[in-house]
Amino acid sequence: MHPTVEPVQRNRDLYLDLIERCLSNSIYEDAYTDWSERGVERTFDKAKRHFGRDWPCVAHTMIGQVRLRNLRDIAELVLAEGVPGDFVETGVWRGGACILLRAILNAYGVTDRRVFAADSFAGLPKPNPDRYPADTADGHHEFEELAVSLEQVKANFARYGLLDEQVVFLKGWFKDTLPIAPIEKLAVLRLDGDMYESTMDALRNLYDKVSPGGFVIVDDYGCVPGCRQAVDDFRRDRGIGESMIDIDGWGVYWRKTKDALAASPARPLEPVGNGPRPFWSVIVPVFERTIYIRQCLDSILDQDPGPHDMEILVIDDASPTDLRPLVESLGRGRATYLRNTANLGLYPSTNAAIRRTRGQWLHILHDDDWVMPGFYATMRRGIEAAADSVGVAFSMYVNQHEPDGSTWSPPPFRAEPGLMLRDFLVRLATANPLNLPAVIFRREAFERVGLFREDLPFTADWEWYVRNALQLCWHHQPEPLARFRLHGANQTHQLAASGRSARDVRRTLELFAGILPADVATQALPAGREFFARQFLGATMQLLQAGDRESAARFLSEALAIDAAAAVRPEFLQLLQHPAAADIRQDIRAALLRRLG
Ligand SMILES: C[S@@+](CC[C@H](N)C(=O)[O-])C[C@H]1O[C@@H](n2cnc3c(N)ncnc32)[C@H](O)[C@@H]1O
Repeated sequence: MHPTVEPVQRNRDLYLDLIERCLSNSIYEDAYTDWSERGVERTFDKAKRHFGRDWPCVAHTMIGQVRLRNLRDIAELVLAEGVPGDFVETGVWRGGACILLRAILNAYGVTDRRVFAADSFAGLPKPNPDRYPADTADGHHEFEELAVSLEQVKANFARYGLLDEQVVFLKGWFKDTLPIAPIEKLAVLRLDGDMYESTMDALRNLYDKVSPGGFVIVDDYGCVPGCRQAVDDFRRDRGIGESMIDIDGWGVYWRKTKDALAASPARPLEPVGNGPRPFWSVIVPVFERTIYIRQCLDSILDQDPGPHDMEILVIDDASPTDLRPLVESLGRGRATYLRNTANLGLYPSTNAAIRRTRGQWLHILHDDDWVMPGFYATMRRGIEAAADSVGVAFSMYVNQHEPDGSTWSPPPFRAEPGLMLRDFLVRLATANPLNLPAVIFRREAFERVGLFREDLPFTADWEWYVRNALQLCWHHQPEPLARFRLHGANQTHQLAASGRSARDVRRTLELFAGILPADVATQALPAGREFFARQFLGATMQLLQAGDRESAARFLSEALAIDAAAAVRPEFLQLLQHPAAADIRQDIRAALLRRLG
């Protein structure tokens, strides 16, 4: 475990959180108009707004907080991965979803992508039943609430300070504007035109512009039959096999993935040049904390095979205090101190150290973890006896709970040293069963599949393992030779409590869906989604008890996003009955209503 400080990301999060709250107006809690009783206005209903089930009187979007957050997740993901292209929404109403997209570009300082906002700015078209029988009974065009002028939408962008040349308005019916829209490539295509015709016009004209790795989001799949039929028809006609993922019972999305491995943004690693190479490169990432580092370094140095066989690189991620004197005094003349000029975050810093290695095999040991006597000799014996195709090896490990010293290990991986079989891939992809101190990596494995992804701060190791295990063999030593320390007082736990870790888990499982062979995916992914949904529901309960209502609601929403069956899990029902749940009763009620359709 390694604490990282991400002040820039934190500021972005704070800005975008506030934008989301303003756009959905969960701040001033405006009334809504009831489409089932024309002209009737009703007081704010928190649950409806959360799940975008109302037409707000004032708020700048009707898509609700869950679909807003999903849109943000997707936009941030394509930016992090460098998926090429602009963003477009077809059907913008008051502009809210597009305003969020523009705000995201703003938050990340992106100036080479645009947000296209396509709308008649005069409401929906009358049905054309001859061409589109599915729209025959569609009455959306009768609602004047749905007609918002271009001037009004521009004024809304301006209220957030986000009206500029990076926003392009496409005014007119989709059938006229989209075929000639000046769009080359799209990273995000968001469809919100409700009707069969509007949905089909957008798909026919824009789908082929979506880059591999880009996303298609459909706002009304779960609530407007015409929209659903258009999507189903289009996907069937085009043979689109990527699975659709439910967002909140109404919205869905899928990712256009031709070759997820090729689309992976993991940076490459250059091979080592000529010259002697040690067998081991041990990397010790550090940041500010010093209380455990002696134990960590001693555990390496006490079994040091000497400079010909091992280099030890301690990489300091720009700690406020200079740790060089401490590292040099503890390093017995063997540890090389490297210091980043700025705080990069855990995996970027680890990647920076990997680039500096010359060893054949790498071991990454965080300053608060340690290895048992015989780790290096046993692992070396194991891999030297194993096939050349082995890219990664790992020993059994022991988790040690810092506050009370209690220990436990995962269920055995195999009884004797040897290669892991295909069922390991299922275990690996379901939920990360490994801890870093127990794992050693052939440097060539990084050269072959790339470094750790830097856009998954909480799950980069897990993502790398699966990416690697699809291409190289794994060896296991069953001896418990590594120790992993669990303790509450680090920032990982604080960030985890904020829900970011849950988001990374969900993203990682989505990535796996794009790369795993079908037989592995069908075993691993449903089990993984269930496992994490239950964990997130447990976290929701814990956070509620700790009085952190906001993080609790975030975990609840991640649980629902990751697993379609989350709302019928026992943990969800327990949550419902617990007195602490009173604070988010509205969210829970809405979730239940949503699951009941
Ligand atoms: C449900 S609203 C969109 C809600 C919006 N995305 C938000 O964030 O609140 C549907 C919008 O689609 C537009 N629309 C639907 N079909 C259209 C078409 N064929 N051509 C142009 N605009 C269309 C309507 O004018 C309306 O503004």
